[in-house]
Amino acid sequence: MRLTTRLLSSVARKRPFYVTTPIFYVNAAPHLGHLYTALVADAVQRFEKLTNPDCNIIFSTGTDEHGTKIQQAAAKANLSPSTYCDKISQEYINLFRDFNINYTDFIRTTEDRHKKAVTHFWKELVKRDYIYKAKYSGWYSVNDEAFVPETHLREDIVDGEKVKVSIESGHSVEWTEETNYMFRLSAFKTHLQDWLKTDGVVTPSRFQKQLLDYLDKETYFPDISVSRPSSRVHWAIRVPGDDDQSIYVWLDALINYLSVIGYPDEEVMRRSGRPWPADVQVVGKDILKFHGIYWPAFLMAAGQFPARRLLAHAHWTVDGTKMSKSVGNVVAPALAGAPPPALRYVLLREATMVSDANFSETKLINIANSELADTLGNLAARCSAPALHAQGTGHVSAPGLARCRAEDMAGKLMDAVERLPDLCHVHYSNYRFYKAADAVIHVLHLANLFFETQKPWELKKKNAQEELDTVLYITTETLRICGIILQPLIPDLATQLLDKLQVPKDSRNWQHCETPSWKIGEVLTKIQPGKFVLFQRIYTDKKKKVQV
Ligand code: MSP
Repeated sequence: MRLTTRLLSSVARKRPFYVTTPIFYVNAAPHLGHLYTALVADAVQRFEKLTNPDCNIIFSTGTDEHGTKIQQAAAKANLSPSTYCDKISQEYINLFRDFNINYTDFIRTTEDRHKKAVTHFWKELVKRDYIYKAKYSGWYSVNDEAFVPETHLREDIVDGEKVKVSIESGHSVEWTEETNYMFRLSAFKTHLQDWLKTDGVVTPSRFQKQLLDYLDKETYFPDISVSRPSSRVHWAIRVPGDDDQSIYVWLDALINYLSVIGYPDEEVMRRSGRPWPADVQVVGKDILKFHGIYWPAFLMAAGQFPARRLLAHAHWTVDGTKMSKSVGNVVAPALAGAPPPALRYVLLREATMVSDANFSETKLINIANSELADTLGNLAARCSAPALHAQGTGHVSAPGLARCRAEDMAGKLMDAVERLPDLCHVHYSNYRFYKAADAVIHVLHLANLFFETQKPWELKKKNAQEELDTVLYITTETLRICGIILQPLIPDLATQLLDKLQVPKDSRNWQHCETPSWKIGEVLTKIQPGKFVLFQRIYTDKKKKVQV
């Protein structure tokens, strides 16, 4: 049934599957939270590729390099803005390489192709009369790069001084009066409400509701300023035809999603299969309003459709507190306490997207050790142990398999393995990576228990070759299915495991895990015997093992 649906959808879908991450500010080095956003998008595109291998994936990421924030950070680092941007942008590229984030395009807002797209988009808004010039005054937060309405401010004391800060972000604001270009956001309230009522357009639904509530409650839904005086913000793209004004960094940044696909060049967009509207745009909860209100409004104004789906996620806190430089709890991925595959796994495995997840090094190490080393790695190591294998073995008879299945542990395991792909398909399709991981780990626990109770080393001693082969076969088949399913979460480890199991490269798609081979009569153990360490246990202290 699923195969038919997939075939039909791949025939129907000539267009590519387009996934985006937000583009990252270069005002500081990447941390765990930034990495998480990119990992979510990477897992989404990997699952799509897994289930729809013929589909052309466009997966964009990049860096957001304009604005006061960057200007100030470069000055503080004693570097020119462009040298500074090169440096931090490169740190993101390195990070994504280390974590196997398989993007197809990395865009920087300082690139010419992007400037061309922004200029064109602006002109389009002007042509359609959605932009006008006006005097503007309000509270501006440099950190958020946004004007904050009076009603969204509270008073705070910083360094003994009374200041106003944004309730939402906690960042301070400064009073600003200037002549700006304004965007007629107010014209889009009803259109936005209609769009936001589309089922699943923002997921998890909690965030869709948040946006709708925002529009419902906000009786005052004003136009927004979309430029700043170039005298204040010189590190930015100029307004076409008015050098004194620079384009608002958020408008500039959002357009990156179009620059990547060649906008405004019709021919390039046509050749790449018309990827807009994007299929999934991943965003953190802090930038939901920019993507769920401003971005669709800008797009509608320019005659484009909004994205098909926004996938929003909550944040990672550290020891229960929001990561911040001033608190001193920002975690650099390289110093998190575990190698990239483990950190990647734990971030995707722990966060639910709906509520904030808390990071601690102890938790990271405990999960990596217990699930990657002791559950997955150990099982793979045990069933490839050379002592259990003999030349020319590996065939399992149907009656032997049936006899084994009749036993409680084997039956439980085989039933669970048969249900696993469908279960995980649902979880992945709903972006519940933690549930997919949970389901796989549950099956691997059963497999470990099965292996332990069958005592294959004793079968070997007793020369009970058929029973031994059956145990090895059921275990390795379980590992094969789990390996295929885990690819979006731990691509490197899954590849090593599938290589060890000698699964051909072209037999690692979702369709290859949907039915265990015992259901289609191909019962062969193909594991390559030999020492195999999939994941090395992490010890924080040479003398003391980490408790799991
Ligand atoms: N430059 C803007 C986005 C422009 S997109 C047109 C921006 N950049 S950012 O570097 O501050 O954030 C990038 C992503 O990292 C966002 O999705 C944000 O939610 C995410 N995270 C930043 N801190 C985070 C956590 N502590 N936890 C999880 N994700 C977090 O906003």
